[in-house]
Amino acid sequence: MTTVAGLGTPDNLHPMQQKFVDAAGFQCGFCTAGMIVTASTFTEDDLDDLPNRLKGNLCRCTGYRSIDDALRGDRNAEQVTEGASCGRSQRAPAATRVVTGVERYTLDTQVEGLLHVAVLGSPHPHARIVSVDATAAEALRRACSALSP
Ligand code: FES
Repeated sequence: MTTVAGLGTPDNLHPMQQKFVDAAGFQCGFCTAGMIVTASTFTEDDLDDLPNRLKGNLCRCTGYRSIDDALRGDRNAEQVTEGASCGRSQRAPAATRVVTGVERYTLDTQVEGLLHVAVLGSPHPHARIVSVDATAAEALRRACSALSP
């Protein structure tokens, strides 16, 4: 099995990875690895039936426009030198890392002292809060702190 990490590296991109970089073919990048691996198997004839050919790959961000652009070889972004980006579409700084699957995402990151939030909705449409018992939340916070490196 070939994953996106097996296609190329940030310094030696596979042609399909390069197309996604050049077209800015992603936003969050969550779907990008699957899109690129799938698209790397396409022939020119497959471009006429992209909705069907990509039906196993879901993108929540792009509306598929930039992905379609990437597959057709459109260039929507460029590598801009420092100080020359005004008025130009600059590549995402992490573009080569995203298309090769090496970029770290939020959930891959451990931040010292990071707190997590849980939201509990009220079962009462209209009520007055007269006290808050934070005992369970404090116990959870202590337990999480104990797990942090
Ligand atoms: Fe975010 Fe496709 S770029 S899910």
